[in-house]
This record gives sequence, C-alpha cells and structure tokens, in this order.
Amino acid sequence: MDRNKGQKKYFIRTYGCQMNEHDSEKISWILTNMDYSETESMEEADLIIYNTCLVRENAEIKVYGNLGALKKLKREKPDLIIAICGCMMQREEIRNVITSKYKHVDIIFGTHNIHKLPQLINNHLKTGKTIVDVLEDSREIVEDLDANRKYFFKAFVNIMFGCNNFCSYCIVPYTRGREVSREPENILSEIKELAKSGCKEVTLLGQNVNSYGKTLSREYDFVDLLRAINEIDGIERIRFMTSHPKDLSDKLIEAYKSLDKLCEHLHLPVQSGSNRILKEMNRKYTREDYLLIIKKLKEAVPNIAITTDIIVGFPGETEEDFNDTLELVKEVEYDSAFTFLYSIREGTRAARMKNQVDDKIKHARFQKLSQVLNEISLRKNEKLLGETFEVLVEEVSKNNPEVLTGRTRSNKLVHFKGDKNLIGTMVNVKIEEAKTFFLEGTIV
Ligand code: 5AD
Ligand code: SF4
Repeated sequence: MDRNKGQKKYFIRTYGCQMNEHDSEKISWILTNMDYSETESMEEADLIIYNTCLVRENAEIKVYGNLGALKKLKREKPDLIIAICGCMMQREEIRNVITSKYKHVDIIFGTHNIHKLPQLINNHLKTGKTIVDVLEDSREIVEDLDANRKYFFKAFVNIMFGCNNFCSYCIVPYTRGREVSREPENILSEIKELAKSGCKEVTLLGQNVNSYGKTLSREYDFVDLLRAINEIDGIERIRFMTSHPKDLSDKLIEAYKSLDKLCEHLHLPVQSGSNRILKEMNRKYTREDYLLIIKKLKEAVPNIAITTDIIVGFPGETEEDFNDTLELVKEVEYDSAFTFLYSIREGTRAARMKNQVDDKIKHARFQKLSQVLNEISLRKNEKLLGETFEVLVEEVSKNNPEVLTGRTRSNKLVHFKGDKNLIGTMVNVKIEEAKTFFLEGTIV
C-alpha cells in the first residue's frame, strides 16, 4: 500500500531489534489505512510515534532524550499527537514516569495491542486526554494485520511471539510475554502473498525460532515450516533469527543440506564462552555443546557463515571467563558478531547480582574482543577474494550514488557499481576487495 497518499502525516522512529522494525511496518500499514502518509520530517508531522526498546540501557536513555526534545514542537503545534509504544511501555514504572514527567505524550500503547491504534487515536481526539492502553501478556495473535514493508523484494515474517527462556540478563520475556507460535497456514499464506507481489527473500522472526511449534495443537516444528516455505514459488532465499543453541536440532543442520533456498548463514548467539557464566546467564548449554553444534554445521555446510551475539562484563565475569570467550571466538571464527556491554535491566535476575563488573574493565574487555573479532572478519573476507557470489541488490549506497549494495546468501554486505534499476534483482558479483565489514566487487 502506498505510504505517501494520505492527507495527514506521521513520523515514526524505531529503536531496537528486527521485531520492532517489523512492528513499525505494521503500524505504518494501519496509519496508511487511516489516511495518513509517512514523512521523514518531525516538524511536518501531525502524529509522531516512538517505537521503543528496553534491551539495553542506552536505547532507553535515547528515548527519554528525544521525547524531551518534542516538548517544544508540541508547544508550537498543539494539535500534534505524540504516541509512544514498544517494549519500554510494557513496564508500569516507565509508563508512570512518562505520564508524570512527559505530559506532552498523548498515547501510550504496548507490544500486544498495536492493532488498537486507530481506536486509541480516536479516543484521544474525542477526549483530549492521554490514552494509556497496555496488555501485560497475550496469547492471542492478531492475524488480520498487514505491513507496509520497507523493501518489496525482502520481508520480515513473524513466526512466533514472546520468549520463555528467561536468560538472567534479559528483559524480553517481561516485555514480549510468553512464547506463542503462529499457525503454519497463516505464515505460509502470508509468504505466498509476498511471493506473488515480488518478494524473493523472507526472514522468519522470533526470539527463539528453534522452538517454533511447541504451542501448536499438533506435531509441527521449525524444520517442517522451513520445508513448506522452500516449496513456495518465487521465494529464493530463506533466513531466520534468532536461534537459541539449546534448541538447535540435528534436523535443522540436515535441513541446510536438503533445502536449496535456506541461506548458508546462521546467527547463533553464544553470549559467553565460559561455562560458569553461561550457567549464571541461565543459557542451558555449555561451551562444549555450542562448539559441537558449530562442528556439525561446518561439516554439513562447509561454506556456512556464522555470526553471534556476545555480552561482555556479565556480573562476576573474571579475566579467566573473558579469556574463555576469546578462545571460543577464535575457535569458531565468526564472520561477524554483535558485542554488547552488559547493561543492568531492572526486574531481571542478573540485576540483583552483587558482583557487577567495574565499567573500566568492561570497556577494556570490549575493546579487546572487538579487535579479535575484527581481525577474524577481515581474514575470512579476504579468503573470498576472486570468488563470484549471487547478490540480492538492496539499495544505492548512502555514500556514493554510483554504488549499489546487496547481500550474498551468507549475508555478507557487498558494494559494486551498477544501475539502480537492478534493485530487487539477483546479480553475480566477483569479489575484488575485502574489508572488515563488507566486500567490494564487480558485476560479472
Ligand atoms: N545487557 C547487554 N546485552 C544484552 N542483550 C540482551 N540483554 C542484555 C543486557 N542486559 C543482548 C544479547 C542478546 C541481544 C539481542 O542483546 O546478546 O542476544
Ligand atoms: Fe532474551 Fe534469552 Fe529470550 Fe533471547 S532467549 S529473548 S536473550 S530471554
């Protein structure tokens, strides 16, 4: 649906993960149906929405800062509607801060009731009051929501919501509620519709996709779903995130060999290489379990790219624990990784741990880890020099209008010269230059 047709204008800012990005695409669809169009300028907007994240403290601080800055805009334009949603709003104490200190906010809603947005806007317009509507948890999946997707050729598709794992550092189970899987029929019909409208790549989203199906009333698991998606005409690439090592099955490793559309990439968050810390994190696997999965994967799919998430400075992390992480990183040889400084999240078990790591030590470890990861990324990218890869062309480079960017099946970012009409198509690119975070090449 055309985001730019409506009379009134909305501006949306998204913080955090792909789940939030996709929720924003749904919000955009709802607003387009309400005769709104999107604007990139806050000054021009009749409605401003912040879709917030609570996973780490810095995302939270940014929201407060940006919200403060909106006060002036609201004073100049009293009809402006300011709405705030997403994970932060699932916390009562945060809602209380917003309603008492940020009185210019008009609508507060949560992660489980995006579909009610039209009603909330109308209620606000009718009463002039601040509307707060948040559900603590929901087993109900609202199926009749579509999304205004950012790209026509690739799409996020939710396959499940929530998380039951309660990793001791993580706020997600408290903001996204208990795990619940969508019915396969609904997922498959959504993907078939996407394929019909030109979508080539789907990324299946869930906090722990490997446990997909557990809440369904029949036996049906993640690999069954992958097999069915692999049969859909028009879809050429299947990706998914995120995986939890404790639930990664041999069946999935085998699927990489038999499903031609399943991309040779796995994002498998390890969080730490120390067994002691993994236990404290409540991750339910050991470094040995993790390394065994990696070994099996590399045997099954020799060219698979492996990426991960790592937390540095979890409470009680010693130099020895940190060295275990460094050693694991060297052994796995990650293609890339997201690294995070441990951040206290009130309400989680780790926040109550007494042995928090000193900030300076955390930062020094973070630097060291990044350096090791970057060296490995560059070395691995250099091995690809001279090879040719299929690349799905995504966009024009922000730095150079003559350069296009796209991704290989292994999710490597590639830069190459080409016409923007190629966006959304597959091209073959020969790699001529390797950098730490991307490759450069020429279309052949
Ligand atoms: N502190 C730092 N990083 C965290 N993550 C989740 N919670 C925290 C926290 N409290 C990281 C994990 C997760 C990623 C999405 O964010 O590595 O995999
Ligand atoms: Fe958080 Fe762990 Fe659930 Fe991932 S699996 S969302 S890290 S609790």
